[in-house]
Amino acid sequence: MSDQLAELEAAVLERAAKITTRADLEMLRTEVLGRKGGALSRAMSGLAKLPPAEKAEYGRRVNETKRAIEAALDAALARIEKTEIQGDLARTYDTTFPGNTPRSGGLHVLRQTLDDVVDFFRSRGFAVVLGPEVETEYYAFEAVNIPADHPARDNMDTFYLPNGSLLRPHTSSMQVRALKSNPPPIAILAPGRVYRRDALDASHSFMFHQIEGLHVDRGVNFGHLKGFAADLCRHLFGADRRTRFRPSYFQFTEPSAEVDVSCGVCAGRGCQTCKGTGWLEMGGSGMVHPNVLRASGYDPEGFSGWAFGLGTDRIAMLRHDIHDIRTFFENDPRFLEQFA
Ligand code: DAH
Repeated sequence: MSDQLAELEAAVLERAAKITTRADLEMLRTEVLGRKGGALSRAMSGLAKLPPAEKAEYGRRVNETKRAIEAALDAALARIEKTEIQGDLARTYDTTFPGNTPRSGGLHVLRQTLDDVVDFFRSRGFAVVLGPEVETEYYAFEAVNIPADHPARDNMDTFYLPNGSLLRPHTSSMQVRALKSNPPPIAILAPGRVYRRDALDASHSFMFHQIEGLHVDRGVNFGHLKGFAADLCRHLFGADRRTRFRPSYFQFTEPSAEVDVSCGVCAGRGCQTCKGTGWLEMGGSGMVHPNVLRASGYDPEGFSGWAFGLGTDRIAMLRHDIHDIRTFFENDPRFLEQFA
């Protein structure tokens, strides 16, 4: 009798392993486990005829066989379900189709430009300092030698807040802040947003970016400024670019100079980009005015320094041949992606 059970178990396991459809599996389940006429119930009915001593052992064997068969049928069902799911997926999705590459971001072109300038000055020992965009009239104007009635305030007209403070029109407001809060020598870069009441067009914006540079110590002279400016232009635009200093006027420097870099489009011969001059304007610079040093508590007899102010947007426009400042702030991915 036990041999028959072993044979039944082996036969059912073998068939279950080969079954591929639910219907076949259900048929096998009824055939073997069905209450009436199932192979196992038939085997159970043999129990009655056995001598009492063998009944218990036989009953145990029947139960074991039943558990083994049920486990085999469950495993077969799981296998069939898995194939069904894969079939469904294959019908719905083409799993061999290449996936969507996730979009990754990149640094904004203005940030890349700033980082380049910062790299140059960091390697020469300059520190980066950040200051408030909402500034007092004192640091924006008075401290840099622009008194209340001075006409120079007009070309830097900015937005005033009800409490009398203003949105800084230039990063030069960081000069006296930096000088006051640090002992000499001072070698800093102060980048950030600045604001003017300018109407928006291709080359003007009510908000743009500047980088202020300031170096104050004993014995700093105009030659240092020229050296830094020329090196910076070569770093930003290429080794073949020349610089020139054009006399200019700023309230906070004396003497003052406008720094130009030779035009990269025509190599200085004169073209549309440089309006025929062969030169492109980079920014303002000069030797720190004695009044600025005094406002910072420095003795102009002992200390001197240079300062410059660069337009970050302008440098980026020159380097990448961008013709409209508005593209920096419109956040059109088609524009930004070119630099990512
Ligand atoms: N603050 C000036 C402006 O916004 C730029 C400037 C000129 C900054 C000369 C300086 C400087 O530090 O020395 O137009």
